[in-house]
Amino acid sequence: MDQFSAVILAAGRGTRMRSSTPKVLHPILGIPMLDHVSRQICAAGSDDLTVVVGHGANQIRKHLKGTDVRTALQDPQRGTGHALLEALDQAAPRHSTLVVINGDLPDLDSGMIRKLVETHRQQGQPMTIVTGTVDEPRGMGRVISAPDSDTGETCAVSQIVEEADLEPGSPEIHRVNLGIYAFDPSKILPLLRPMVEEDLSDEDSAKEAYLTRLVEVLCDAGMGVCGWDCGVSTNFAQVNDRRQLAQVSRMMQEKWQQHWMDQGVTIVDPVTTWIEVDVELGQDTVIQPNTVIRSGVRVGERCEIGPFAHLRSGTVLGDEVIVGDFVEVNRSRMETGSKAKHLAYLGDTHVGKKANIGAGAVIANYDGKDKHPTTIGEGAFIGSGSVVVAPGEIGSGATVAAGALVPPGKSVAPGTTVKGVPARLHKSAEEDREKICEDEKGN
Ligand code: UD1
Ligand code: MG
Repeated sequence: MDQFSAVILAAGRGTRMRSSTPKVLHPILGIPMLDHVSRQICAAGSDDLTVVVGHGANQIRKHLKGTDVRTALQDPQRGTGHALLEALDQAAPRHSTLVVINGDLPDLDSGMIRKLVETHRQQGQPMTIVTGTVDEPRGMGRVISAPDSDTGETCAVSQIVEEADLEPGSPEIHRVNLGIYAFDPSKILPLLRPMVEEDLSDEDSAKEAYLTRLVEVLCDAGMGVCGWDCGVSTNFAQVNDRRQLAQVSRMMQEKWQQHWMDQGVTIVDPVTTWIEVDVELGQDTVIQPNTVIRSGVRVGERCEIGPFAHLRSGTVLGDEVIVGDFVEVNRSRMETGSKAKHLAYLGDTHVGKKANIGAGAVIANYDGKDKHPTTIGEGAFIGSGSVVVAPGEIGSGATVAAGALVPPGKSVAPGTTVKGVPARLHKSAEEDREKICEDEKGN
């Protein structure tokens, strides 16, 4: 498919969020809402993306730094029509098809965007609007179509009526504007500019220029506007307030978990499990209830995670790793067959193959100022309630006895045992280890 340009409208104040963070930077499944939208646009094949920023512009610019996304500033923020005009003026689209998407629609699908571009080109109108038929249209612009123009899939749109402008007592309309459009920029610009100027000429500084009013303006000028029904039948996932943020996050979480279940991962209780995006989960891994897996985590095959486990960003687990109840693993790597079965914290730690982290053990990686790494060798045994203060190095096959405190910078030689506070070398390592193992088996 030919390339297309895209604009994300993200300048709005997001008043209903009641937040000092711009709405589009609120995270959903571990990444900002804006990134969900831009990823789908790029996946649909766009190589020319502009984000309109305004409220919290610097925060959004900072977030986009290092990407090839362009920004256009809308200041003050005077409506979606004004926002698009700013984008066209400040970052002229490189292609003749322009997709415009509201930044508060994180549950987008790249396939739908591609289909919109196709439909727009086939229908040949200067503006195509993606519509959906929903049970509960509240808060959405209602789509009015020209009589007899509705083919089921497309219609000729004659007007979009915003919620605030609905006539009281008028019949309920269930076809709504989803906030996703395709345009021929050269055809709409000569009409958009005077429309915005007219709408904002009013003394009233609160007045906005709605992008949706462009429908009437185009129709009055004898041009057509195509409505394409994308088949959405439940309430579409826009985020205007924190309730919708939670609802949309939940919807996206369900889809994401279904993806992983289809890949062969068991999720024992989807309701209490939370998995962010950008993770990898191996086949036959079992996730027990109340587990949180953050973005950037990789889990191997046949692992058992939870209940009540927290895998944080940067964590990598090999195959057959067990991370049990109330264990937090942060920026750590646990090699194949290693275990931390109960009540432990591992930060910046490399755990060797088959090593065992006992109940209540803590690898203390933070000294209040800096974070330091710890290495635990293959087959090492970290006893219950012990604390290894980073930087630390526990040799392979070594044992840290229950309750020991290994001070920062201390290396425990392979195969030896340390015990006490602070931990000291214990002579009869083998004997002692057997005893500790026996005690621990009872846990
Ligand atoms: C908008 C549509 C409505 C549609 C709904 C679907 C308008 C006037 N109404 O309403 O028909 O059903 O989306 O989701 O377009 N923005 C700017 N600059 C502004 C104002 C808004 O960039 O001056 C951005 C916002 O950051 C947001 C997007 O435009 O990402 C939509 O704005 P929002 O206030 O959420 O519009 P809705 O009331 O949802
Ligand atoms: Mg909205």
